[in-house]
Amino acid sequence: MNVAVIGCGYVGLTTGAALAWMGHRVYCADRDPSVVGLLNDGKIHLYEPDLDRLVSSAAGAGRLRFTTSTAEAIVGAEVALVCAGTPSSPDGSADLSQVKDAYECIARAPGPRRGALVVATKSTVPPGTCSSLAARYGSYGMRICSNPEFLREGTAVRDALHPDRVVIGSDDPVSTQVLCELYMSLGRPLFVVSPIEAELIKYAANSFLAARISFINEFAELCEAVGADVTRVAAAAGADPRIGASFMQAGIGFGGPCLPKDLKALVSAGRDHGVAMDILEQVERRNSRQRARAVERIARALGGLEGRIVAVWGVTFKPGAGDTRESPPVDVARVIMESGASVRFYDPAVETPVPGIEGAVCCDSPYEAVRGAHALALLTEWDEFRWVDWGLVRRLMEGDFVFDGRNALSPAVVRAMGFEYAGVGRRTGGTEFRHVHPGTP
Ligand code: UDX
Repeated sequence: MNVAVIGCGYVGLTTGAALAWMGHRVYCADRDPSVVGLLNDGKIHLYEPDLDRLVSSAAGAGRLRFTTSTAEAIVGAEVALVCAGTPSSPDGSADLSQVKDAYECIARAPGPRRGALVVATKSTVPPGTCSSLAARYGSYGMRICSNPEFLREGTAVRDALHPDRVVIGSDDPVSTQVLCELYMSLGRPLFVVSPIEAELIKYAANSFLAARISFINEFAELCEAVGADVTRVAAAAGADPRIGASFMQAGIGFGGPCLPKDLKALVSAGRDHGVAMDILEQVERRNSRQRARAVERIARALGGLEGRIVAVWGVTFKPGAGDTRESPPVDVARVIMESGASVRFYDPAVETPVPGIEGAVCCDSPYEAVRGAHALALLTEWDEFRWVDWGLVRRLMEGDFVFDGRNALSPAVVRAMGFEYAGVGRRTGGTEFRHVHPGTP
């Protein structure tokens, strides 16, 4: 099938490369010439494991091309996938200007067309967007439908090639048929629903994940108050398959380019439709509180932050991603600096100053970051932090306080090396944690 992909961000580039790998002929457009220039030189502009190899093998096979012209990308295409960004507007609603620009470019593109082009929005957009786009552009030879994307940064390639499900939002049998053919070879469940349901499915998934995280974070605070360890509570409660163990990791809260903005957009959409999204508003409040609690905990341990040096391990919004947008660690580091402390940070995926904490010293190893520090805050749970030489860390640090903002470390190991340890909702000492399977000695 001939496919046009509009937008070469995480979603567009990964989707385009995955479809080309599946055997389709894909032409990707991005209006940023520097992005297209890099892609045409065989390089990628994103930090995403395995994506460079997928792109280069698909491009090498002649099935993946790049252009700055949307009009050029759609020539001969049977389907176009709109993968434009939908950032937050100042009032929290989704800013649809990039999506509308993409539709405008398709509408204005000179022919010839082989019948109406199936155009599916992959971007996360509020309920009702597909029908307003159809009302505006339907007469320009487009069959407009919805096809939300669920891939995660850090595992985007795996998610695109082995999705849990493909959601097709279409009331038009021709569009449905085209999109089913596009994804059929993945052998994954296809959900064919109305466009508005497809739009809501994406918001339901992201806001439910956010709610789980805020739930366990609230529970973590209760665990601290009553002397329990949230990691044990979450592990055993999550063993019930109705609950599940994923997205039950307490910490400094969720961030990144999707969850926070989608939550805001959904609350705003509820307001537009006269529905109070009370639960989700509380999810947001709890998320902000986790960041504030992290700063308070470090300040308490140091007797104030003025003049102190805090080492930060990890500034990306999660491990495996190179992204610091809406990153909880950046927010925590920024408030620490605003409170009079200086910050030295290390992150395996970040080598340059980070927007929002430009004054922080960027170090090239976890050891360099802790040199002379009064406290260490682990804020992104990169694997390498679990295997550091704690003896060396202790010798390099001026102080002895370790804040484990992701509950990634063994409190016993860290304490045994002479540190004061604090996690999120973790207990000091007490019963040894045992998870015994029948049959194990
Ligand atoms: C998310 C959705 O998971 C994905 O389906 C959608 O397509 C895009 O948005 P992503 O933004 O890549 O993906 O990150 P995700 O893995 O969901 O993590 C989001 C945030 O939640 C991170 O800051 C992470 O650290 C935090 N998190 C996650 C927790 O604090 N605890 C957890 O248990 C899980």
